[in-house]
Amino acid sequence: MSVPVSSKLRSLLVPSTRVVVFTGAGVSAESGVPVFRGRNGIWNEFRVEELATPAAFAADPRKVWEWYDWRRQLVSRIEPNAGHRAVVEFERFFHSCVVITQNVDGLHNRAGTQQVLKLHGDLWEVRCLSCGLSRTDLTSALPSLPPSCDCGGMLRPGVVWFGENLPLLAFERAVDATERCDLFFSIGTSAEVYPAAHLPGIARQHGAYVVEVNVERSAAAEMADEILLGKSGEILPQLVRYLRVEEASSVEEM
Ligand code: OAD
Repeated sequence: MSVPVSSKLRSLLVPSTRVVVFTGAGVSAESGVPVFRGRNGIWNEFRVEELATPAAFAADPRKVWEWYDWRRQLVSRIEPNAGHRAVVEFERFFHSCVVITQNVDGLHNRAGTQQVLKLHGDLWEVRCLSCGLSRTDLTSALPSLPPSCDCGGMLRPGVVWFGENLPLLAFERAVDATERCDLFFSIGTSAEVYPAAHLPGIARQHGAYVVEVNVERSAAAEMADEILLGKSGEILPQLVRYLRVEEASSVEEM
């Protein structure tokens, strides 16, 4: 089923438009990754304070690791969905398309997006608390919890917890791209967690056309020029179909 799309948005679906795609948990929901808030949200069942803060990890590293190991195993069994794949098509079509995500699941990469600004880290990164070394570890079902570094120190998940700073370079690049873009998509995020949730407002202040894609209106709706209500795995492929029409008509004109 198609959603109504404005002529303004259609007019922006040309290769020269500078695009930012900003995603949250909703873009992975159709793959089977649970969202955090709202219906069936993780934070209805689990407490942030017990699983996603430095204090929680200090108090009970094994418990926190069990939860991350469970998420790693879950994500390793599922596949990117049509929404992730549509984002790859966006990158191919637009000369400038910057993908920014709050997701740690790595599904944008697995769909084929090379460059992703990961504001909340990566489920597949681990970092040593003793030597500080970060590395990728794709093992699902880690053999012992908490896992250890080669130096003997304890590893922590390479994600950003509540109360921690975002990776500075990724966030600076995200803000920079947001300030420069013409078209900003806020996709599948409740836009409730700051500083990432500032991005739709920054885009709006700098004159971008802001489009929210969500199954319901989020906090970003206030900043949006247009709201496309529905699943990202259905709406984004619809936009890709428009890109293909645009591409075909520009070839005919040549
Ligand atoms: P949330 O769980 O807060 O929001 C998910 C959003 O996705 C909601 O607005 C849903 O309406 C929407 N949604 C659900 N299914 C969808 C679908 N198929 N298509 C489109 N939209 C859909 O997730 P985030 O906004 O990503 O942080 O949460 C932000 C941060 O809070 C996360 O990165 C995580 C979390 O606690 C940390 O762990 C630091």
